[in-house]
Amino acid sequence: MRNNFYAPIVDAMKKYSADKVLPFHTPGHKHGRGAHEFLRELLTPEGFRQEVSLMDELDDLHAPHACIKRAQELAAKLWHADETIFFVNGTTSAIQAMIFGTLKPNDLIFVPRNAHRSVISGLILSGATPIFLPVEFDAEFNLPLNVTVKTVTRAIKKFPQAKALLLVSPNYYGVAADVRKISELVHAAGMILLVDEAHGAHLQFSDELPLSAMDSGADLAAQSTHKILGSLTQTSMLHMRKNFSAQVKRAASLLQTTSPNQILLASLDVARLQMEVDGRGLIQAAVELSKNLRGQLKRIGLKVFDAPKNFSFDPTKVTVNVSELGLTGAQAEEILRHELKIQCELSDAANVLFLLTFADDESTVTKLVDALKLLPARESIKISSTNLPREISRAKLSPRETFYAPTISVKLRDAIGKICAEEVTFYPPGIPLLMPGEEISAQVVEQIEREKLSGGKIFGVEDSTLNTIKIVC
Ligand SMILES: Cc1ncc(COP(=O)(O)O)c(C=O)c1O
Repeated sequence: MRNNFYAPIVDAMKKYSADKVLPFHTPGHKHGRGAHEFLRELLTPEGFRQEVSLMDELDDLHAPHACIKRAQELAAKLWHADETIFFVNGTTSAIQAMIFGTLKPNDLIFVPRNAHRSVISGLILSGATPIFLPVEFDAEFNLPLNVTVKTVTRAIKKFPQAKALLLVSPNYYGVAADVRKISELVHAAGMILLVDEAHGAHLQFSDELPLSAMDSGADLAAQSTHKILGSLTQTSMLHMRKNFSAQVKRAASLLQTTSPNQILLASLDVARLQMEVDGRGLIQAAVELSKNLRGQLKRIGLKVFDAPKNFSFDPTKVTVNVSELGLTGAQAEEILRHELKIQCELSDAANVLFLLTFADDESTVTKLVDALKLLPARESIKISSTNLPREISRAKLSPRETFYAPTISVKLRDAIGKICAEEVTFYPPGIPLLMPGEEISAQVVEQIEREKLSGGKIFGVEDSTLNTIKIVC
């Protein structure tokens, strides 16, 4: 028996390829022979030979018993879970399976207001109803922080009948919730803790990063292996405690393709191997590099977002405030991309965010610093901060009921007291003021009117002027 430093899915694929079987099966390109030359430029001949699916020896993602089972077990061990499921449809489907597999129609779940859209689709599938939790906000950088322990305590007191709580931790900007403390509160109340850890597959490989969700006591955690580690885009993992696994596996099987791409699966296996062999060294190096980058950026006078008070923080997400330079995030992104040939991870009204991973080194950091030195400096802009919803508010209709309900568009003022059928989000700050299924209050309408006047960009609605809004009939 070999040690853990091997990749069972890759081994099985190599064996299949070495067997030189003549394919009379899908995929139609048949080991690349039928592939167009453009596609052949993208993959190696060996990649094509191994790009087969549904072969007996390559196992079955929907009923794993051989190499996929072994690879998932190795991943579960490394990420401190009882069981792990591989996903080739992104963390979107891992989150959908996590919700769909743990909640029933009419169950209540606490959801932070800035949850990713996959959470709402998971709620449509499960039929559960969200209770929205406010997230703290950093007024200086104009970006969302996370849910506090105090908010969770209040929420549990107000809705003790809720079944689950979902956290997004760390968020896009690297700000983590106190998952350990929240896990204690949630479990003491007899609820389950689900974590969207899309941005945290690397956490457990450095003591300087926030504690991972599974190490903090979460019941399930969905990670985008592809976002920070070395697997291919679309590949993710869902880690679970044993008591949830049967139903979550059924949910995952309903949501995933019956023809998983073998190269994608192999990339998850290899990303696990890479972390197993050298995870701590690689991730710590990325953390050190990000500290170095932060120091250099501050020395050239840029304003960099650091660990906020009362939250733990992942420093590999480097957010630079460009409103100080008189630029919006979008303008800075445009200049960086087209004039300076640097692509950031995201830009918002006031900031640009750069993601550092173990693929970076001093030379990439130097190039980034040199580019940022060239950003033009004008008079600083004042970004007006939004008054975000602070209440813990239960949706009147579940996302599923709202999804199937007949809707009409009415004038914004006429929508007061009605149920919203769409999401209303202004950028900044990118946190929804209204979610589908929520009652539209007079205060929120006033706030929407103020946001419109201040020129914030509107997302999520059919009528982008928001003169009208879609409501449930
Ligand atoms: C917080 C969060 N959750 C979930 C997702 C969905 O991940 P994927 O793109 O892998 O489906 C994203 C994607 O950006 C995200 O930022």
